[in-house]
Amino acid sequence: MTLEVSAKEDVAEGVVALTLVHPTGARLADWTPGSHVELVLPEGTVRHYSLCGNRWDAYTYRIAVLREPQGHGGSAYVHDVLRAGDRVGVGGPRNHFPLVPSERYLFIAGGIGITPLLPMMHQADLLGLEWQLLYGGRSRAAMAFHEELSAAYGERVRIVPQDEYGPLDLASWLGTPRPGTRVYCCGPAPLLAAVEADCSGWPRYSLRTERFTAADQAAPVRDTPFEVDLRRTGRTVTVTPDVSVLDAVRRAGAQVLSSCEQGTCGTCLTPVLQGLPDHRDSILTGHQRAANDCMFLCVSRSCGDRLVLDL
Ligand code: FES
Repeated sequence: MTLEVSAKEDVAEGVVALTLVHPTGARLADWTPGSHVELVLPEGTVRHYSLCGNRWDAYTYRIAVLREPQGHGGSAYVHDVLRAGDRVGVGGPRNHFPLVPSERYLFIAGGIGITPLLPMMHQADLLGLEWQLLYGGRSRAAMAFHEELSAAYGERVRIVPQDEYGPLDLASWLGTPRPGTRVYCCGPAPLLAAVEADCSGWPRYSLRTERFTAADQAAPVRDTPFEVDLRRTGRTVTVTPDVSVLDAVRRAGAQVLSSCEQGTCGTCLTPVLQGLPDHRDSILTGHQRAANDCMFLCVSRSCGDRLVLDL
């Protein structure tokens, strides 16, 4: 779809927020906390941004974009070129980081990782659930939305700029494992790794994370070709070690949408009917992987000689 930028505002050092509306004023697709949209920028660049506004407002989407000096130009375009009144292509919303039911939540954000957590806290608050936020960042000035969070939620929010307090003390904030508590974390890879280590003693599936970039993966389970049956297309393709499953099935005529092609956005999710995928994405949780009923074709492969896909 094509949406219009109705407002653009600076919300922190190096962070702008965009409000997007339908050009005709039509209502937009519903979404749930943790969802993201894809911005289609000139030259086909696609970037994913978490929806951070009010999900109960059916007419606007809000995203926040961090300027990434080492990036490939997507954030620079949003910061330097895109203006209120411009139109942009938008895909989604999709949600691979859903807020699952729980008695209480601990939210941990690093920098721009606050964005998917904002609607989650709003939702938890509406439901009257117990929750707390630990929010770290380089400096107070670089931490988007910290003032409105403190104003709205007071003591439940702990703002920890690194230049004032040093690194986050995750272990003491998390405390001892508590059944009935879900930990949601979004931020840079070192923060996610630290939270994963500190949550290793928690009940299984307590921790849910969202990554900006692909996690390091071990070598593929096999380095020999395997076959993929496309059940609905009625074809079988051989996937050699130098080709992704996504490319192989496309060459066989299957229509599969893709975007990041790094296993982080979720666009190429495909149901698996038979066989054991070698999951190599940065999205599925442990129990979702164990179900082996879906895979991301851009990065995941096969453990066995054959996979059957619902394509
Ligand atoms: Fe993004 Fe496959 S295209 S996960």
